[in-house]
Amino acid sequence: MKKLINPFFRWENGTFITIDQTRLPFYESILKLYYPDEYFDAIKKLKVRGAPAIGIVAAYGVLSTVYRYKKFTKAKTESLKTIELLKTARPTAVNIFNILEELKKLIENFDSNDYNHFKDSIENFCKKRLEYEVYTCEKISIYGSELIKNGMNILTHCNTGMLATPGIGTALGIIFKAFIMGKRFHLFIPETRPLLQGSRLTVYEAEKLKLPYTLVTDNMRGFLFSKNMIDITFVGADRIALNGDTANKIGTYESAILSYVHKKPFFVVAPTTTFDKKLSSGKGIKVEERKTDEIISILNKRISIAKNTFNPAFDITPSKYITGIITEKGIIKPKSECIKKILK
Ligand code: MRU
Repeated sequence: MKKLINPFFRWENGTFITIDQTRLPFYESILKLYYPDEYFDAIKKLKVRGAPAIGIVAAYGVLSTVYRYKKFTKAKTESLKTIELLKTARPTAVNIFNILEELKKLIENFDSNDYNHFKDSIENFCKKRLEYEVYTCEKISIYGSELIKNGMNILTHCNTGMLATPGIGTALGIIFKAFIMGKRFHLFIPETRPLLQGSRLTVYEAEKLKLPYTLVTDNMRGFLFSKNMIDITFVGADRIALNGDTANKIGTYESAILSYVHKKPFFVVAPTTTFDKKLSSGKGIKVEERKTDEIISILNKRISIAKNTFNPAFDITPSKYITGIITEKGIIKPKSECIKKILK
């Protein structure tokens, strides 16, 4: 079986190298990140995006700071500042907060003032976390691909592939895995307005792998379900509360409701790094609100004269609409007791 390798995330001697996702699919522009502001800007503007990816890139943002200051005390104070800055980039995906909190503890409790030892420890932390995300995707894809049968019509949402994680992806990783295992199915990709992660990024990845897919606009999903054209749905997650309520890209909730009404399985796919151990339900999730421009224009082309817009970037799907959550530790029910067990 062909092995899929993610080509989009690389660390090279102080600099993180990735691809500018705002320019895809028409330009494959390399993005080099070094200064804290560059990491902040890349995450805020969705040049890098996807919950696991922004966590990992933020951690490397801290490592870039450590590389820049060659003395322990300065490297320590500046890297703590970078952590605080990056925490303000985007509020909803929990991965970035989970990993930056861990790094903060590591830095604050570092028990030596040897710069090289400090740098090596932070670098080792980042490398291990990146490798773990690659591993989570692989395990998730093995569990999830079991659910895909020949002839199925599959629905996804947003982009959850190799652009959104350092591995093969979460929801899309499952679909990629099933495809290279030889299963034959059809994928429906909603365009995912306003920023078109579906039509720009998921289609880009599907084309690269020659996956059979059809692009639809977001408001066609009801029609697809009503015509019995969807058998199963896989979506990613940005933050999962302890009761299974899930924040994901705006529009996910509609797919969940449609699946529920039409009695079709709806799976959330996420590594354990996307769970919020401090949150008992989705009520406490802060939903990012983004600028008007994203609604009144498409790829910088103005399409509306509207003066009033509302642009929440995520919605929260209550756990009662979720069939199961596919994690690197197995497929679980969206229930507190099952979630707490895998987070131990
Ligand atoms: O605003 P985005 O593009 O960062 O939103 C991404 C999503 O909602 C993804 O579904 C989620 O982060 C999971 S990525 C594996």
